[in-house]
Amino acid sequence: MDWASLLVECKENVRRQITPLLKGVSSKGPNLGVGAGGDPIKQADLAAEKAIIDTLTSHDVSFILISEESGIRQYGENPKRNYVTVDPIDGTTNLTRGIPFYATSIAVSSKPTMNSVHTALVADLFHETTYTAEKGKGAHRNGERIFPSNETSLEDAVIGLDLNTYKVNEIAPKVTKLIGQTKHIRHLGANALELCYVADGTTDAFIDIRGKLRATDTAAAWLIIKEAGGKITHPDGTQLNSKLDPKERVNFVASGNAKLHKTILNLIRA
Ligand code: IPD
Ligand code: CA
Repeated sequence: MDWASLLVECKENVRRQITPLLKGVSSKGPNLGVGAGGDPIKQADLAAEKAIIDTLTSHDVSFILISEESGIRQYGENPKRNYVTVDPIDGTTNLTRGIPFYATSIAVSSKPTMNSVHTALVADLFHETTYTAEKGKGAHRNGERIFPSNETSLEDAVIGLDLNTYKVNEIAPKVTKLIGQTKHIRHLGANALELCYVADGTTDAFIDIRGKLRATDTAAAWLIIKEAGGKITHPDGTQLNSKLDPKERVNFVASGNAKLHKTILNLIRA
């Protein structure tokens, strides 16, 4: 099965299906219920998910879908052969507000665990930038091999930090030291894509320790960052692995290189 090509086809179909929904984006749009991951569903989320499922089923692929929106569903005759973990739209709020930073994220694995993901795609649907990775074959952006940054100085590093949480009183103290030593903190609003920015050296690190981000949003970018040569671990420095399930949440630090990674881990542990 040529998963790499199939995922590109899925992404193209997602783009086709959501394009009409982007015209005249000016309001937040209605909520269409609550997804398996616990957030309100928008029309674009459903259109993107349907585009992925339709593309795979049109090729008679058997798979178990693990989706932020529909939860877990089986397709085809031998579904347990392939697990397809999707966040149909990562950055839905950006999309619905007209902020040009949102993506589709698709990971294929042999088991429902992050460390068995073998093929991954995260596509920036506004800028037509597609990040892909296959286990053992490196990571690519629009077909060109990518590598993370060598930046090790906190003063010069651009560091993504997601602090979107009602539990900010609990989380913020853990990053106060880091913020105090960093000049360029960012949060762009689509965490799968922000992880890919670490993979290709656009930024130097990305941190999400809220206990809130779903494994479905992280699975594809996890392989992309690993294959690019970057670091992604649990905040205590241990390997990041997780069950792939719409309810599963992850905490992580991702960095372009081991030195910067160690510096960040030491500061957020303190
Ligand atoms: C969201 C984005 C956002 C993060 C949220 C996620 P979604 O993904 O990644 O940056 O702060 O926690 O839920 O909901 O648009 O798929
Ligand atoms: Ca989503």
